[in-house]
Parts: sequence; structure tokens; C-alpha cells
Amino acid sequence: MATALSLSNVFALPSLFGGRSLDVLRRARSFTFRPDAKFPRRGERNQIAVKDFNLSINGSQILKNVNLTIPDRKITCIIGPSGCGKSTLLKSMNRLNDSIEGVKMEGSIMLGSTSITNAEGMGISEIRRRVGLVPQRPCPLPMSIYENVAYGCRIHGIVGKRRLDRIVEFYLRAAGIWDEVKDRLREPAIGLSIGQQQRLCLARTLAVEPEYMLADEATSALDPISSRTIEDLFVKLKEKYSIIMVTHTLSQARRIADHVIFMYLGEVIEEGSADQVFNNPQKEMTRKYLDGAFS
Ligand SMILES: Nc1ncnc2c1ncn2[C@@H]1O[C@H](COP(=O)(O)OP(=O)(O)OP(=O)(O)O)[C@@H](O)[C@H]1O
Ligand SMILES: [Mg+2]
Repeated sequence: MATALSLSNVFALPSLFGGRSLDVLRRARSFTFRPDAKFPRRGERNQIAVKDFNLSINGSQILKNVNLTIPDRKITCIIGPSGCGKSTLLKSMNRLNDSIEGVKMEGSIMLGSTSITNAEGMGISEIRRRVGLVPQRPCPLPMSIYENVAYGCRIHGIVGKRRLDRIVEFYLRAAGIWDEVKDRLREPAIGLSIGQQQRLCLARTLAVEPEYMLADEATSALDPISSRTIEDLFVKLKEKYSIIMVTHTLSQARRIADHVIFMYLGEVIEEGSADQVFNNPQKEMTRKYLDGAFS
């Protein structure tokens, strides 16, 4: 049975909110909500398997014969220099590249035994719920802060104001932004700062309870305390969700990754446990990148 993600246990981590939010912590402990009850969850543990995957745009090859397996309920960090295809790979797992003009894809991406790249496999709406993406550039929906979190839940059949109120509060708290927005929930989300938008997009993604959460530089616009908040949240969430994170911050990957994928020029150069990739890289290219020889 899936563990309930109650705020009392998410917020039980002493470092999660640092010293600045003891109040939040106290209130959170009295706030109980079981998000597991929202959507039926499958009992099996699914991996994402990328097999012989190639992607080109107008004839220019962006991803080259990518083969990898992303473990369930772990934090996988994708690292590599700018332009090497990290975002394109993440978006492929969420079918966000489909609409790019001139895109051509070959190979497969499977969630468990179901294809997420094949038209006969899972539908887009189901993919987007099971594999949620927090994009590199935060893109709040053109609606209120509240609606940004509630919207996806409504689409998936969650109704009732009280229930939605609790869901919205729960996930805004989990993303570490509740205190900043609780008095302006009905204001347009576009008015938030970029760092706040990033956390709002995280709350929105979490609210539909994906099995996989794809986070593309999800902390790039955040101050160090907010970044650590999100890192600690991810570490806690991996009991329930699988997290795939793109990051340029190697110290962040070293702190939280279980599994690491190093990409270069559209190829996966090395993939393995964080311990192996960081402490005993097998490829010269990985070693040079970790040593800062190029970026
Ligand atoms: N829609 C598009 N049309 C044309 N080329 C694209 C498109 N999207 C991505 N590319 C190209 O694909 C390559 C990989 O881009 P991608 O955004 O995946 O890199 P990245 O590793 O995420 O880089 P960064 O670390 O800077 O975010 C780049 O050369 C980029 O210019
Ligand atoms: Mg990117």
C-alpha cells in the first residue's frame, strides 16, 4: 500500500524549512490530508525504459541512440553541458516534442510495459498525469494561483470546493510557497516572481500525483534556502514518486542523486549509480566534465 504523504511527515525533516518557518511546521503538523485517496494507484513499480531513441528536428539530430533505464522511486539526475539534449530527453518522456515542426522520432520510451511514444500506447492526458513535467522556464497557466493547482485535479475528476481547497493548500505548502501566496490565491499567477512561479509549477505537477516527476532545472531561479527546501522535498517524495531532475549544479546532484546520467552532444555517455558516476566514472569524458574541464 502506498505511504500517505501527510504534511506531518513531509515537514518532519528538521532542515526542510530551515529556521525561518517554525510556524509553518507547527501548523503543518496539525494538517492531515491523504493525497493517495485522490487517484487510484497501481500497485506495480514501473521503470521508464528508453530504447534506441533518436530525435531529429529538421534533419538535425538532437538525441542519438539513447538507451537507458530510469529506476522507480529514486532521484535520477541528468547532467551535461548546455545544448546536449537534456531538456529534449525530458520532454520526450512527456510527449512535449510532438508538436515541434520538423520533429522525427524513432525508438521507444516505455513506462512499465506501456509505450508512451507510440500512438497505440497511453493517451497524452494519462501520460501527463503519470509523468509530470516541471519545465525549465516556469509557465503558469493564465489563471489564478489557486486555479493553477486545482485545474489539473478538476480535469481528472476531483470536484468539491472544500476538497480542492485542501489539495491546493497541501501542495502549495509542500512546494514551500504557501506562506507567500495564501493571501493572494485569487490573483493571476503571472504576477508571481520567477522563483515563485517555479514553485507554483512544482505544486501544480505534484497535485495530480504523477508516478514520475520530471524536473528541468527546477531550482535554477531559487535562492539557496528555497533550493534546499525543494531538494529536501524531493528526497522525501522519492518514497512515493520517481524524480528525474536536470541540473547544472553538480553539488546539488552530488547531494541528492541516487542515479546519474551524463549526456554530451545528444548521447548518453555514462549512466550509473551516483556513487559510481561521481566517484569512479568509467568514461574519460565524464571525468573531464566532473573536473570542470568543459561546461
Ligand atoms: N524546437 C527546437 N527547434 C530546433 N532546435 C531545437 C529545438 N529544441 C531544442 N533544439 C536544439 O536541440 C539541442 C538540445 O537542446 P536542449 O534544450 O535539449 O539542451 P539542454 O541540454 O537542455 O540545454 P540547456 O542546459 O542549455 O538547457 C540544442 O542544440 C537546441 O538548440
Ligand atoms: Mg535544458
